[in-house]
Amino acid sequence: MKFHITTFGCQMNVHDSQWLARALESRGWEEAGEDDALVYIVNTCSVRDKPEQKVYSELGRIAAHLKRDPSVFAAVGGCVAQQIGKGFFQRFPFVKLVFGSDGIAGAPNALERLAVGSDERVALLDFMPVYEEREHALAPVAGHSRQAFVNIMQGCDNFCSYCIVPYTRGRQKSRHPDAVLDECRALVESGVREITLLGQNVNSFGMDKGGAGVSFADLLRQVAVIDGLDRLRFTTSHPKDIAPEVIAAFGEFDTICPSLHLPLQSGSDSVLKSMRRRYTRDHYLAIVDALKQARPDIALTTDLIVGFPGETEADFQDTLDVMESVGYESSFSFKYSDRPGVAAVNMEPKVDSEIAAERLMRLQTLQNNITRKCLKILEGSSTHAFIEGLSRMQDGGTTSWKGRDPAGRIVNVATDEGGDLVGMMVPVRITEAKKHSLVGERNGEPW
Ligand code: 5AD
Ligand code: SF4
Repeated sequence: MKFHITTFGCQMNVHDSQWLARALESRGWEEAGEDDALVYIVNTCSVRDKPEQKVYSELGRIAAHLKRDPSVFAAVGGCVAQQIGKGFFQRFPFVKLVFGSDGIAGAPNALERLAVGSDERVALLDFMPVYEEREHALAPVAGHSRQAFVNIMQGCDNFCSYCIVPYTRGRQKSRHPDAVLDECRALVESGVREITLLGQNVNSFGMDKGGAGVSFADLLRQVAVIDGLDRLRFTTSHPKDIAPEVIAAFGEFDTICPSLHLPLQSGSDSVLKSMRRRYTRDHYLAIVDALKQARPDIALTTDLIVGFPGETEADFQDTLDVMESVGYESSFSFKYSDRPGVAAVNMEPKVDSEIAAERLMRLQTLQNNITRKCLKILEGSSTHAFIEGLSRMQDGGTTSWKGRDPAGRIVNVATDEGGDLVGMMVPVRITEAKKHSLVGERNGEPW
């Protein structure tokens, strides 16, 4: 059976799609291109209005394949599936399965039933009270990546006032630490060199019924010392939950990469309060100081929302100030968008869309300038790049590879020697800073 998966949204979704693909392959299914699949799976995101709209246009495109083969059908997973649920069956009759983030565990079996011609409609939308282990579908495919994601938890309990995630992904459920460790060890044994621990709020791991009393700091330390693991990352971190032990770990383990995504959302205390973020600007800045002390080369990135209801020009200026004093390497920034059912929908006054757009522009201009400076000072320095694949910057007789330095910055490395460098660590000297990436030359033996 040929299937095709389209993924929108966060790394959790990317990971879920990867798992689903492997689980279907283990049943003899085959991943196919957009034009010759029979089963189309769309893994969706509803964190803002834009990605939600993309789901409907994607389903419109899939409908066109019914002309080629009337037995074509679709499955919709992820946050929009959870939100709209069975509504998809009415709007798009060729959708036969909807599954949420907990329901995905049952998706491979449901797809198998539907693919043999069953005309039923299946909705896997229930939230489970505890983290449900999924079947093992580790086997990496041909040309396998040596980087892997590992889920450590599901859901979120924070209810930030703008955010739909607690409604679409349900309450926080930590996985059993032994299951996490077993999976990490098995991955490293199979050749994986870099692991990213994933969760909506990894720092509150274990603060629910799951997690067996193990804190995130403990779990992180245990993964960090797995023999053979070269790089360890984790995301996402909520500033209110990051423990001093986690900050200290950045200075204690070489495997923990010097980078952290620490969503700020706003630099204004009053906006943070109405966002229900439960930290202040000073608290956030103190965490940043501690991180820089533990690991002076740490690269910080963030998420920001502009135009939150009630945001004034002075509030926005506070965000620019924090951006400047932290010196983020890069950031994701968004215009506030009303999501169904969240508390901020009822907050006033709404910021005029043009004003929000103008603030977003100013913020992104400042970010580009900071990014440029962060990259520029790296010219001439030595580091190593973990090669992920061929770079788009091919030129003449040399081959250019795309890798990442320990902080996650993209480094393009040109070499005239043959051989496959994918999955290798290549020592490099940075020769040039581009707008969003670095260029390096090899200055040692890959390992
Ligand atoms: N409007 C705009 N941005 C949002 N985000 C989450 N909800 C909203 C919303 N309603 C952003 C936050 C979050 C990121 C994943 O998406 O910055 O960190
Ligand atoms: Fe949404 Fe806040 Fe939970 Fe992040 S911590 S998923 S922003 S509610």
